[in-house]
Amino acid sequence: MVELHFTRIMKVNNPKVDMSHAVKELQSGGLVAFPTETVYGLGANALNPEAVRKIFAAKGRPGDNPLIVHIANLEMLEPLVKEFSPIAKQLAEAFWPGPLTLVLPKSDLVGPEVTAGLDTVAVRMPQHPIALRLIELARVPVAAPSANTSGRPSPTVAQHVVEDLHGKLNVIIDGGPVGIGVESTVLDISGEVPMILRPGGITAEMIAQVLGREVAMDPTLAGASIEETPKAPGMKYTHYAPQAPMTVFVGSEQAMVQAIQTQAHQLEQEGRRVGIMATVESAAQYANGLVLEVGSRHDLGTVAAKLYAVLRQFDSAGVDVILAEGFPAEGLGVAVMNRLNKAAGQSIIRV
Ligand code: TXA
Ligand code: MG
Repeated sequence: MVELHFTRIMKVNNPKVDMSHAVKELQSGGLVAFPTETVYGLGANALNPEAVRKIFAAKGRPGDNPLIVHIANLEMLEPLVKEFSPIAKQLAEAFWPGPLTLVLPKSDLVGPEVTAGLDTVAVRMPQHPIALRLIELARVPVAAPSANTSGRPSPTVAQHVVEDLHGKLNVIIDGGPVGIGVESTVLDISGEVPMILRPGGITAEMIAQVLGREVAMDPTLAGASIEETPKAPGMKYTHYAPQAPMTVFVGSEQAMVQAIQTQAHQLEQEGRRVGIMATVESAAQYANGLVLEVGSRHDLGTVAAKLYAVLRQFDSAGVDVILAEGFPAEGLGVAVMNRLNKAAGQSIIRV
């Protein structure tokens, strides 16, 4: 059952601002949304089972989808895990604080409501001064999924959290827009070959370079068919999804623009309201539809940063269908295409 709360919205533009109210809420089992460098998180004390259960209720999140535990320093990690292998140490040194989540063998301290009954726990140290300060002051590890209603695009500004969760949590810390815009890379290092369960800001190449060995991608992420169960339980759900059905076009820029324009024209003739997800480079070439720019094709960081906000804008505009340009699945493009494919429910057209 979702408890109703008075939701206090606090503007915090630097970590020196007084956050004691939010800190007290976390310590007493409340829910606090806060900015991270990837997306906004919906936090609760990870060691308080009742508080953790409130996260699932507020989001409408399936109980079999485990949470990431956020820490502010390495001392907080020790009690949470059974072992911190040399590989894990190497990666933490290279990428923490930052958008890399490590799946590690959990200690008995971490309850089944956090890990959905798995014997591993996902941990990350976020690289956002407000997140770090909040966790440090609370002195508890903070379980936090993205602060959206389950299935909707993750929040990249505090207003998205307000839209989805107002009245269902105690505090929203408004720290302005996030930097990266897509969720952290989730990496499983329990097997022989480290495996990316969810692509994100830290790419396979970056991890491989630090470890000096190959990094695999969960094979269930790649194909259009999802017959096997992905290893990150959350990856099996329709996610990041706007309300209107969406199709992603993949091909050369010119071919994509042409195919989208043709389809947009046809759909409008049929009386449908069409949203087009374009880039700075292509936007002016479309003659039909509501055209929104999602950043520059030549800097995928700008695309990641705007992706979820643009999906939400299409929702607010009430379009019937969304046609989106695709991107090369390289570097950060792997994460961007993973989110686009999921938002589109695997509806991809190669042109
Ligand atoms: O950037 C992020 O990671 C954001 C910010 C708030 O830190 N958080 C986030 O959390 O995206 P969430 O709950 O939306 O996604 C967590 C993902 C899910 O796909 C979940 O299945 C996976 O991590 N996960 C969590 N614990 C796991 C575990 N023990 N083994 C495998 N996958 C796990
Ligand atoms: Mg999420």
